[in-house]
Amino acid sequence: MNRNEIIKYLKGADTKELFAEADRVRKAFVGDSVYLRGIIEFSNYCCQDCLYCGLRRENSKITRYRMTLDEIVASAKKAVELNIPTVVLQSGEDNFYSVGDLCSVVKEIKKFNLAVTMSIGERSYDDYCKLKEAGADRYLLRFETSDEELYAKLRPGKKFSQRLQCLKWLKELKYQAGSGIMVGLPGQSMESIADDILLFKDLDLDMIGIGPFLPHPNTPLAQNKSIELDLVLKVIALTRIVTENTHIPATTAVGTLDSQGRQKALKCGANVIMPNITPTKYRKYYEIYPDKICVDEDATKCRGCVEGMILASGRKVGVGFGHSLK
Ligand code: 5AD
Ligand code: SF4
Ligand code: FES
Repeated sequence: MNRNEIIKYLKGADTKELFAEADRVRKAFVGDSVYLRGIIEFSNYCCQDCLYCGLRRENSKITRYRMTLDEIVASAKKAVELNIPTVVLQSGEDNFYSVGDLCSVVKEIKKFNLAVTMSIGERSYDDYCKLKEAGADRYLLRFETSDEELYAKLRPGKKFSQRLQCLKWLKELKYQAGSGIMVGLPGQSMESIADDILLFKDLDLDMIGIGPFLPHPNTPLAQNKSIELDLVLKVIALTRIVTENTHIPATTAVGTLDSQGRQKALKCGANVIMPNITPTKYRKYYEIYPDKICVDEDATKCRGCVEGMILASGRKVGVGFGHSLK
């Protein structure tokens, strides 16, 4: 599909054929299994100030927390008990944890025979290298938007080129690399979303996370509106069709935008779900966007919930790590 065709679909109202085609491509290239990735949100401190994000450093209304290294390892152990083969260690950009600390956590978790995904933002090449040596398998770093001007506006002091550099390093170091975007950012054009989708293909990513931008009241973008679910689903569907054999999660954000959002995403290209396994007492503070789902539940509840969702969608829970299909 070329850029003009992608733009036509993004702007068009006819979704039925597009979603059916995305579902066919998903089935042909990645099958019926839906892989689970248990997410551990281990710190909500962040030294960045992204205009869209509730964890931004300027947000003084948020209660900050950091899990201890032992608590992080204990949460990963919970993943083993719940038969979740991958954990994602996610935080704001928090330099409180030295790379040595993080490496020791990764090493402990690898003893449980889990796949480990890091999602801790921009770090040095050296840090990425050490984490890989410690056993981290994958890394998630969304580029958020490929519109360089918009990127610079939304992430003060940061440059899109640096983001790409990080992704290139991660690939060079043989991580399974994931990226992604938010859909519905203020000032984001359909043309730029088409470029995002083509960039996914270009970067030859293993995983692609796509979620709606959800305005957070304690950020400068509070006054913006959230977008229609259909646009997010169209971006997921087009990404599936263009990139074919990538892992695409039905994100928590799409489940927050619409109570059936994740189920719908599974039907138009998605093949991964990320149940939250953060200890319940911390969940409500990891408020990247408002009204996030699963805040009062615990790991066992979310594990059961996503399994029910997968089976009700006529799919099966993936067995094994669900590594890159490339
Ligand atoms: N709405 C939706 N997603 C958001 N993120 C950050 N802020 C928001 C928001 N207000 C996403 C970014 C980031 C990921 C961890 O969360 O894409 O990469
Ligand atoms: Fe920090 Fe990430 Fe939020 Fe930006 S999006 S403020 S880097 S947690
Ligand atoms: Fe957490 Fe449904 S996934 S309650």
